[in-house]
Amino acid sequence: MNRDPITADVIVIGSGAAGLTTALNLAASLKVLVLSKGDLSAGSTAWAQGGIAAVLDEGDTFEAHIEDTMIAGAGLNDRQTVEYVVEHAPAAIERLAQLGVPFNPGETVSERWHLTREGGHSARRIVHVDDATGWAVQKALERAALDNSNIRIMTGQVAVDLITERHAEERGFVERRAMGLYALDRESGEVNRLLAKAVVLATGGASRVYRFSTNPDGSTGDGIAMAWRAGCRVSNMEFNQFHPTCLYHPQVKNFLITEAMRGEGGILRLPDGTAFMESHDPRAEMAPRDVVARAIDAEMKRAGLAHVLLDMTHLKPGFVEEHFPTIVQRLRELGIDPVTQPIPVVPAAHYSCGGVLVDRKGRTDLAGLYAVGEVTQSGLHGANRMASNSLLECLVFGVSAADDILARFESVPMPASIRPWDESRVTSSDEEVVVSHNWDELRRFMWDYVGIVRTDKRLERAAHRVALLRQEIAAYYSAFRVTPDLLELRNLVEVADLIVRSAQARRESRGLHFTTDYPGLSDPPRDTMLYPSQG
Ligand code: FAD
Ligand code: SIN
Repeated sequence: MNRDPITADVIVIGSGAAGLTTALNLAASLKVLVLSKGDLSAGSTAWAQGGIAAVLDEGDTFEAHIEDTMIAGAGLNDRQTVEYVVEHAPAAIERLAQLGVPFNPGETVSERWHLTREGGHSARRIVHVDDATGWAVQKALERAALDNSNIRIMTGQVAVDLITERHAEERGFVERRAMGLYALDRESGEVNRLLAKAVVLATGGASRVYRFSTNPDGSTGDGIAMAWRAGCRVSNMEFNQFHPTCLYHPQVKNFLITEAMRGEGGILRLPDGTAFMESHDPRAEMAPRDVVARAIDAEMKRAGLAHVLLDMTHLKPGFVEEHFPTIVQRLRELGIDPVTQPIPVVPAAHYSCGGVLVDRKGRTDLAGLYAVGEVTQSGLHGANRMASNSLLECLVFGVSAADDILARFESVPMPASIRPWDESRVTSSDEEVVVSHNWDELRRFMWDYVGIVRTDKRLERAAHRVALLRQEIAAYYSAFRVTPDLLELRNLVEVADLIVRSAQARRESRGLHFTTDYPGLSDPPRDTMLYPSQG
């Protein structure tokens, strides 16, 4: 059945911090449709623990936040972008407070909010809501969006691909631009056309391309893959951040143990109690994440360990429960009491620093297509994102992208008539096992060959496997009706290909990309840029 297209002024794909911030700023004067492939809170935003970085303390300065971000980014950040984001951070926090985010209050009269510390930050500058900041931010944004009559929300809509001039019914000249998207409705199983003058990708990262990850299931790089297929450049895909401390537990695979625990005095130890971070870096537990994750990886490989330990047992009574109530409760449910027992931890894939290339207004290479948040490579993070700078990126770029869309809106034509989704040559799959098998295989070899430490040989092995899987998945995609799992797998293999190619192109070790074949830095620092024509 070919239903009429669903239309809006602007469509935002994604309902995390990036999507909802953009939508709220657009909704001042435009009708906005927000889509999520799961429920409203299914993205990484709701899972964020530590907090949001901003200069809010009298003793702290913008210069220090900028310098710390540049140091963590290992020379690849765009300084102007870093300055832009850091300088807009206090206002972003203020807006959240006005939306009702109950940041923990300060402990002295002069301190409005309590500020915690995380790796790479030279000052206390992380506002937080206990150890569940993301949940509070997500819920405040959701309340505001649900209350706004200019925002329509559709959940359970899996974006398949962007609609561009290629999908127009009319032959002849149609301007090259994003005009909407095709999306699979989980409930009806139909693929609908959704049309708008502008589309915003706010689809989050791609860390589920790895076997072990701190991320929710939906972090499958859909926006990166869709933008790439629509002809946008992607950049710095080799910089996958591995969070040093994910809980090691036989049943629970992706529970993060916040970096703020190290910020508040947690010590990493071997099973025999030896603290090891100082022998890897003078900043010890407060070194940036890439350094800490590599140190843990090295210790685990050296001693053949399944995990290391994060020890909070030396802190004063009551402190851990008071500062980290969510983590304490969850760990106690699992039979670990962090007040009296060290926590078993391992590194896990956490954040995609690379993504769709955007400018400071969130503009991509395709007219009418914007991208905001973890889906992007905005120049903020460089070769390694500093802790708590990513929610901030969503909040700042959500405003700048909305401003640009609003400024151009009147001059943009409403899309021409667009071809409906064509299912005439596909059938329902009788072999779903192909999807689940390929999914497991992909995530396993990405972990083993394209993980924390890389070599040319491992990358070559991964490239061979990606090529085989791509062929198989493409054949499957063209023969069978789409399902949510198939769509995610198709995007994951695309993203895996982009990661492997980017990693192969970087013949040095910088930030999160470490290869034993090229352990040094090469000069000058360069972003990795993949052009769709190479695809
Ligand atoms: P997300 O919040 O991931 O939202 C993505 C949205 O896109 C979802 O609504 C999803 O349903 C939708 N979507 C995706 N694909 C499709 C599709 N094909 N069709 C339709 N919809 C789609 N950062 C910090 O700054 N501070 C922290 O303390 C912090 N802690 C973290 C803790 C954890 C456990 C994790 C996983 C991350 C943490 N991060 C933290 C990182 C931060 O949470 C994310 O970078 C940020 O929330 C990303 O926001 P986003 O809006 O870009 O994407
Ligand atoms: C954490 O709380 O450790 C995560 C912080 C982040 O990813 O920015």
